[in-house]
Amino acid sequence: MAFLSIQGLTVSYGGKADVLRDVSLDVERGEVIGLIGPSGSGKSTILRTLVGLLKPRAGTVAVDGAKVDYGSRGSLRAARDRFAIVFQQYNLFQNMTALRNVAIAPTLVKKRNRAEVEREARDLLARVGLAEKVDAYPDELSGGQQQRVAIARALALKPDILLLDEVTAALDPELVGEVLDTIRSLQRDGMTMLIVSHEMAFIREVASRVAFLDQGAVVETGPPAEMFDRPQSPRLKEFTSRILRH
Ligand SMILES: Nc1ncnc2c1ncn2[C@@H]1O[C@H](COP(=O)(O)OP(=O)(O)OP(=O)(O)O)[C@@H](O)[C@H]1O
Ligand SMILES: [Mg+2]
Repeated sequence: MAFLSIQGLTVSYGGKADVLRDVSLDVERGEVIGLIGPSGSGKSTILRTLVGLLKPRAGTVAVDGAKVDYGSRGSLRAARDRFAIVFQQYNLFQNMTALRNVAIAPTLVKKRNRAEVEREARDLLARVGLAEKVDAYPDELSGGQQQRVAIARALALKPDILLLDEVTAALDPELVGEVLDTIRSLQRDGMTMLIVSHEMAFIREVASRVAFLDQGAVVETGPPAEMFDRPQSPRLKEFTSRILRH
């Protein structure tokens, strides 16, 4: 079985029409999957469901052979052990330093030893290129630096799989590169990631495979070069021709 196995995932918001329909995806350890598709196609919904923010109506998710149970409050904690998500809006705690922002969840939620967690948090901040900024508050950091703190904060929970939803979309163009560099280095370290992004050149470079979603369904998957250069389905053809024109 694949490291992450998603089978027949079906999700609706509040009992309305399904926004994900029978989504299946197998991801090997260390793979980086680029999720692409038009606005409203369900990319964010997949990530939100995996991390336990939405309850699937049908389907299964398994990580490393163990089924993730989305049924109860207690089991949601198990989902949060498997997946960590970073959003476009980094939502750091404004009254806490970068170090505290990264260390807060492992100390408060997981009740781990504070000194040990802070040691790890320093290492993580160094890993995202912010060794010098451990004591800075969010309003003393650029958008790109804040987003890198948010990535370090997600990694502090030691997820098996990191979910990134448009993490560069709110940044000024000159700050995008440093966040992409961080993601590149995580990929080199073997982090398994699902990345939603409109940065197609980046997806092409960093993703081992791309999944194209349309209207809540996975329409086509394949290596990035195939997907962008030789799309098979009419809908992916239309999508790639539209983005390449921009
Ligand atoms: N809270 C919500 N309540 C009801 N419907 C929602 C909610 N959030 C999203 N949807 C609907 O679910 C569908 C999928 O939305 P989703 O946010 O997953 O799309 P997306 O692919 O991430 O789009 P974008 O590229 O614009 O971020 C859309 O039709 C959207 O309108
Ligand atoms: Mg989205």
